Amino acid sequence: MDTGALIAFFEDLHRHPELAFEEVRTTAKVRRALTDAGIELLDTGLPTGLIAVIRGSRPGRVIGLRCDLDALPIQEETALPYASEEPGKMHACGHDFHTACMLGAALLLKERQKDLAGTVKIVFQPAEEAGTGGSRSVVATGLLNDVEEFYAIHSYPYFNVGTLGIKEGAVMAAPDRFSVTLYGKGAHAAQPHDAIDPVPALAALIEGFQTAVSRNADPFDPAVVTIAKVQAGTAWNVIPETAALEGTVRTLDNGVRAMIRRRLEALAASIAAAYGCTADFRYAEGPDPVINDASLCAVCRDLALRSGFQVDRQEDTMGGEDFSEYLKICPGVFVRVGTGGHIASHHPAFTVDSAALPAAAEYFAALARERAEYIKGE
Ligand code: NI
Repeated sequence: MDTGALIAFFEDLHRHPELAFEEVRTTAKVRRALTDAGIELLDTGLPTGLIAVIRGSRPGRVIGLRCDLDALPIQEETALPYASEEPGKMHACGHDFHTACMLGAALLLKERQKDLAGTVKIVFQPAEEAGTGGSRSVVATGLLNDVEEFYAIHSYPYFNVGTLGIKEGAVMAAPDRFSVTLYGKGAHAAQPHDAIDPVPALAALIEGFQTAVSRNADPFDPAVVTIAKVQAGTAWNVIPETAALEGTVRTLDNGVRAMIRRRLEALAASIAAAYGCTADFRYAEGPDPVINDASLCAVCRDLALRSGFQVDRQEDTMGGEDFSEYLKICPGVFVRVGTGGHIASHHPAFTVDSAALPAAAEYFAALARERAEYIKGE
């Protein structure tokens, strides 16, 4: 597949975005391109997503590359000639670019298979946008247990084409979700003395939850508590029975994460009690923070400079990513690839400059090839 064909592949994916766990067409298209090139596929038993494997002719190590397939429920507002043809669905996070890039890397590795040492496993993951569901299902197949280093790609609109973002340590947060429902006693709005009003209790809770960050977390340990949804009552003259809120906790460290969770739960119970209400507190953990391995970042940076890329530190973000599931198997790096556009991902006007594609595919192929050949102590 030449550069033109790879860009056409990307544009076709962009035209036909599919949401998490629905990546049937995308999977079929990638599968066809891989099998046409004679690349072996592992049987994941999953309805969408793929694992390709390229086995070298000499002994070496097992290296994993990972991309994601799914799009977002967003109505595209770009003027691209290959804009989404699916109403309300859009590749607004560049996963079409990631998929095309890792396909390109797979084809390059296949071409050089006889020179390759070790094994490269390339994961085309379903459902990155669905919490941990996508990566957990792939990891649970056990087919990646022998991988010794993992590398993931993500597009980055704030770097120009030709720049890679590589940074050691935490680069993506753990995106957790919580909800609280307060139970009081409803009454006529003119008779508050007959009610246990959950609305002022909810207001106190909204205020109180912020102290988990401002008073309990170390200022040098980033943490976010956002209450994004609030609900109480259905009429102006009725005190409701219940009031509820939902939100997210973002942390870069599992210790801080556990502390915030404990504080929110304690605040919910004690503030509810202070107002005569009871609280139902729920907390759902998302993926762990993504922690890039420092020594492998140095490896990635060295290859980037040798390959003619500029290297920048990526901006810190409290966004979440389920690549951390693979990092429970082995160390790795989440590499940002500059794709220009300067509009945030998950925005209807987000774009990726496909000019970044050929060099990015070459980079990940070279990274996998060199690391599969690497012998410790060399
Ligand atoms: Ni993404």
